[in-house]
Amino acid sequence: MEIYLDTAKVEEIREFAWLIDGVTTNPTLVAQAGRPFHEALREICQIVHGPVSAEVVAQDEEGMVREAQELARIADNIVIKIPLTQEGLKAVKRLKALGIRTNVTLVFSAPQALLAAKCGADYVSPFVGRIDDHGGDGMSVVAEILQIFRNYEFPTRVIVASVRHPGHVVAAATLGAHIATVPYSVLKRLFQHPLTDQGIARFLADWEKVPRSGTY
Ligand code: E4P
Repeated sequence: MEIYLDTAKVEEIREFAWLIDGVTTNPTLVAQAGRPFHEALREICQIVHGPVSAEVVAQDEEGMVREAQELARIADNIVIKIPLTQEGLKAVKRLKALGIRTNVTLVFSAPQALLAAKCGADYVSPFVGRIDDHGGDGMSVVAEILQIFRNYEFPTRVIVASVRHPGHVVAAATLGAHIATVPYSVLKRLFQHPLTDQGIARFLADWEKVPRSGTY
């Protein structure tokens, strides 16, 4: 499974550039980064060569296509995030014809993902954390989407988004999702286990008891 970093903060991307396969941003994350959108995107695309998702804010087809064309000019690895609406999916079809890749975002159900795939979306992003927050089961929505895509051999790839904790990443990988996009804090937690820390502490303590013979 590929791992994307869900952030617009360049310093977080730099720290994990050696590990991640791509980046996703959204207007909230761009606001948190506190930098002009296009300037930040340009820098991110210089650091990461995998797909970098950038979201349109227009709500009508024409506006979305216009914004998408402008964003796509920033770098070859830009993927345009389009919200799952009727206007959005019309824009996805237009962008497909123009050779611009899309990531359909704000997906909360399997039928939404099916429509996005039929319109030629390159990626769909089901928001598992927000589904869970509303009392649903985000990962069962992902399972349905993956099954539907397999049934009809849709090439659309599933990005498990709105990831809240390492359990979501494990569930995504267990289901065979193509990608999980994870916040910086969750990515840090993927490395951690208390027994690893305890093991290192014990090994280092024991190492102190070894008679010195070499350079360390
Ligand atoms: C990614 O594409 C989404 O924009 C992001 O994962 C949303 O996460 P949130 O629900 O934590 O805002």
